[in-house]
Amino acid sequence: MTPTKIILTGDRPTGRLHVGHYVGSLRNRVELQNSGEYEKIFIMIADAQALTDNAENPEKVRQNIVEVAMDYLAVGIDPEKSNILIQSQLPELTELTFYYMNLVTVSRLQRNPTVKSEIQMRNFEASIPVGFFCYPISQASDITAFKATTVPVGEDQEPMLEQTREIVRKFNSVYGDTLVEPEILLPSSTACLRLPGTDGKAKMSKSLGNCIYLSETEEDIKKKVMSMFTDPDHLKVSDPGKIEGNTVFTYLDAFCRDEFFPEYCPDYKNLDEMKEHYKRGGLGDVKVKKFLLNVMLETINPIRNKRREFEKDIPYVYEVLKKGTEKARETAAKTLSEVKAAMKIDYFEDQALIKEQSEKYKDA
Ligand code: TRP
Repeated sequence: MTPTKIILTGDRPTGRLHVGHYVGSLRNRVELQNSGEYEKIFIMIADAQALTDNAENPEKVRQNIVEVAMDYLAVGIDPEKSNILIQSQLPELTELTFYYMNLVTVSRLQRNPTVKSEIQMRNFEASIPVGFFCYPISQASDITAFKATTVPVGEDQEPMLEQTREIVRKFNSVYGDTLVEPEILLPSSTACLRLPGTDGKAKMSKSLGNCIYLSETEEDIKKKVMSMFTDPDHLKVSDPGKIEGNTVFTYLDAFCRDEFFPEYCPDYKNLDEMKEHYKRGGLGDVKVKKFLLNVMLETINPIRNKRREFEKDIPYVYEVLKKGTEKARETAAKTLSEVKAAMKIDYFEDQALIKEQSEKYKDA
């Protein structure tokens, strides 16, 4: 029997989602959702995790829950097929985390590369909040509570998946087979794995102003695309140009499809032809950027327009979240009770325990 395929994935609600989220994970989720291959799909708005490094800024997290939810709905996550849930509303997840903590060492957490780089980024070195330090364990709870087999996320999440698998193996070997080992599902192309900011920097961030949001206006998309980083040595149109490290081409790799050419750039049949011309020399940056702009607008306009409809009906969005959370909670509660039974901390359901202890005192 093939095991049931279940998806769990999620995002921290610390801001609106951008095109990096889109090619790195969201687009994939919608395809998986519509493939009909998955029995259940859970998409988590990880507010509790967001609080692990935003403890002093709960309002930011609170405001962004609905923003992320609208981004989900706008890209095509369908609440009839996928459960969208809010992490903090499932106490079962916190409970699981507390038990899993006994199966993980401090030094193992210290070696987690994602945690390491986040500690550096946030200047936590001297004073790491315990909750933040433990978030990989909490993420293992997120995944295992739903018995997820498949976790479609970006490459940076691989260490979290590795940590989860270790916890699952340890739990199952100590307490008996209960939890399921998940697999990561990465996007297929390198451009999608790690889409750079519009300035060519690896990290996209709001403060750098180098990301294009899924809710971005046409005018702002235009500004960001037309000022994108290209090949700094490609000074004259006739100069040969470089493709590697050229952000405009990285974005085209991630977003362009052959069918865009006849309408927006009929000089070429496909991206390879365009790249060849650029490398030879004779193709200017402005022409490539204008093409990319059209490609980006084709992608983002429908998303932004669909988002508008949800922006006009916020109560509906909360209703979706509430229903999704309630349904998800049923699944998490079932897993938690299996976990407690495996650990034999289900005292009031454990008839054997009462019998065993009655026997012990029978002759006393
Ligand atoms: N760590 C993820 C991020 O930073 C968010 C997340 C929380 C998540 N729990 C998860 C992703 C469980 C996948 C599975 O974006």
